[in-house]
Amino acid sequence: MEKSKKKIALVGLGRVSRRHLEALEANKDFLEIAYVCDLDLERAKAVASKTGAKAINDFTAIGNVDFLSFATPSGLHPEHVKLAARACSAPWIICEKPIALTVREAITMYKEVESAGKTLLPIYQNRYNPLVAFMRDLIQSGKLGKMYQFVMNIYWNRNDEYFKVDWHGTLDLDGGVIFTQASHYVDMLQFFFGEVAEFHGIGGRQRGFETQDTVSAVLGFKDGPVGSLNATVSVYRENFMTEFTLIAEKGTVRISGTNLNTIDVWDVQGMNKPDLSFVTEHQYGRGHDTMYRLVADGNFASFPEKKEVLAGIGIMEKLSF
Ligand SMILES: NC(=O)c1ccc[n+]([C@@H]2O[C@H](COP(=O)([O-])OP(=O)(O)OC[C@H]3O[C@@H](n4cnc5c(N)ncnc54)[C@H](O)[C@@H]3O)[C@@H](O)[C@H]2O)c1
Repeated sequence: MEKSKKKIALVGLGRVSRRHLEALEANKDFLEIAYVCDLDLERAKAVASKTGAKAINDFTAIGNVDFLSFATPSGLHPEHVKLAARACSAPWIICEKPIALTVREAITMYKEVESAGKTLLPIYQNRYNPLVAFMRDLIQSGKLGKMYQFVMNIYWNRNDEYFKVDWHGTLDLDGGVIFTQASHYVDMLQFFFGEVAEFHGIGGRQRGFETQDTVSAVLGFKDGPVGSLNATVSVYRENFMTEFTLIAEKGTVRISGTNLNTIDVWDVQGMNKPDLSFVTEHQYGRGHDTMYRLVADGNFASFPEKKEVLAGIGIMEKLSF
């Protein structure tokens, strides 16, 4: 018997929604887009005409879906998720990163969702990048021995056009480079190394926005490794690179590329370099495809735990404000 498709509503039909729609298309055998919602009803209608979903501009009126998926501006997530938890029957609420810009709001969000008997699923799709998943398994397997040091660099360009979008570069809705561009990598470092013991950072408002466009931080993890994280959106003209270098007792590895998609340094005791490098035409990678497959399968264990999400927001909040 054919398994019935689960229903989903996508809320917020801006820039990243294109990636969601492609990922939902890739999972159309398992998920049906029942609603597309945006404050701008014309935008919702335009998307609906291609997907067959119902166009709506008030997400609190969405009924009878399994999943709500929020891709609205970051600083609005806490209010949106709270309202949805109260008004909508969907048992699972997916929310783009960062789910909130302060720990306090994130805690309230979880409380609201949980007290409504629902589950909050934050999107950190970088976890589903095959190289990131491989590195995590490698670290956890013990084959690299002790972790000593890491470098995480996110050298990107977001041009002045990007900052013309009303909420970009604002403290209350965007939060700055650590929240908007580097949050995946703050999450990834915790995914690899566990709990952060201490950190310190310096941020720069090099281009005069309300938020920081450039941050340099050092972090020490409870289990030992120390390292640095540099993030900027102010590289001249175009994205330069994303790189993660790991110095461990039994190996040195560097992964880089637009989406951490290439292993370009590999020197690991007793192990040949795995053939895992990949190319993607997407600046966001293909992680949303995997993410939606996981939700369709009911595989929620692969989402970040509340403890990790709150710890990550705590780090980003202190580095940003
Ligand atoms: N995971 C990733 O790789 C990734 C990449 C880019 C953006 N994001 C995140 O996705 C979110 C959206 O980013 P974006 O670049 O698409 O923003 P955007 O400004 O392009 O789109 C946001 C959309 O939300 C709509 N909106 C606002 N309030 C609404 C409401 N109450 N009801 C319905 N719609 C509403 C706006 O009209 C707009 O169309 C942000 O949190 C961002 O950090 C994640």
